[in-house]
Amino acid sequence: MVLVEELRALGVEPSARVFRGVRFEADLATAYRLHLSLRTASRIQRVVTEGEAPGLEAMSELAMAVDWTQWLRAHRPYRVQPVVPEGRDGEALARVVAEAVSARFAGQAGPRYDADHDYPVTIVAHWREGKLTLGLDTAGRALHKRGWRVNGHPAVLKETLAAAILLLAGYDGTEPLLDPMCGSGTIAIEAAYIALGKAPLIHRGKDDFGLEHHQGFDRALWRQVSDEVRAEKRDTLAAPIFARDLRPDFVDLARKGALRARVEKFITWAPGAIEALDPPAAGGLLVANLPYGERIGRGEVERLYAGVGHALRQRYAGWRAALLVPADAPVHLLDLDRPVGHRLKNGSLDVRLLLTRDASG
Ligand SMILES: C[S@@+](CC[C@H](N)C(=O)[O-])C[C@H]1O[C@@H](n2cnc3c(N)ncnc32)[C@H](O)[C@@H]1O
Repeated sequence: MVLVEELRALGVEPSARVFRGVRFEADLATAYRLHLSLRTASRIQRVVTEGEAPGLEAMSELAMAVDWTQWLRAHRPYRVQPVVPEGRDGEALARVVAEAVSARFAGQAGPRYDADHDYPVTIVAHWREGKLTLGLDTAGRALHKRGWRVNGHPAVLKETLAAAILLLAGYDGTEPLLDPMCGSGTIAIEAAYIALGKAPLIHRGKDDFGLEHHQGFDRALWRQVSDEVRAEKRDTLAAPIFARDLRPDFVDLARKGALRARVEKFITWAPGAIEALDPPAAGGLLVANLPYGERIGRGEVERLYAGVGHALRQRYAGWRAALLVPADAPVHLLDLDRPVGHRLKNGSLDVRLLLTRDASG
């Protein structure tokens, strides 16, 4: 799991795998750093309490035992987000948690329950197999929302998935990188962040993280950690990054995103079809998120896959490739030599990442 590797690189050893995530303990400064620096996590939660709770009464007891005044601030709106298996009553769970919060603040100014409030303050009530975990969503807005995206492309990758692809491919910024189908530029922009050692969430605005709204938030420590993380960024690349797309309007869009992400000058941009594109360097890593059949016809997809495979074999000897394709894509037409495959999810879509040693096969 690439997230585990990321945590380890930041000095944190996960203690367990949990449903769609990992559990870890860290001191406050490290926890703050993770919010700014993790590239592939979409959420971070601080566990408040957990225990066996087979029924609603036990859930209520568990929630009532928490001193919510230690976690939530007066007057702030908050919501409770139940996460339960299908068919279970999430509303009832949210209600008992909200009642427990009100009971704990009885007689003093408390936080304001607002079910429609999206973020920043969310109590996540996760019930699974008779066990309840109550946690605070410390990220607030999902972490793939880096803050730089410009809308206008119909098939963007989540930033966290783009980062995961790059890390799975072993990209560390020391070899040239080319995304010949850059679309809105997600892969190239995330690559620039990795290559510069730049934290992906460093440009988020003040008060944008959930943790900034929780009781006990240490603003001075947060500032100190943010300054340290910011200072770690390098000013130059060790190897160039190239981004191309068939459509000049997408190249323009990607540049705009990169400008907002403050890495535009580190990427070389140009329009052009991959079939006609000469390699911009003798070797490196070619990463592409191939178009999906939903938006273009099957015949066109097949022509494209055959064309990409041909281009890689003919002109990209010396390049490794990392290709993200739908699970049902005609990968045989790419004719790659024994690629290593990883099964991933792109939203709800099953996809595969195919990694080759070098793109010539
Ligand atoms: C799935 S999208 C890539 C999305 C991108 N990863 C992002 O996050 O925005 C595929 C892109 O390939 C481009 N494309 C399609 N055929 C191409 C070709 N023959 N050569 C270069 N680019 C092509 C499309 O214009 C589209 O932007």
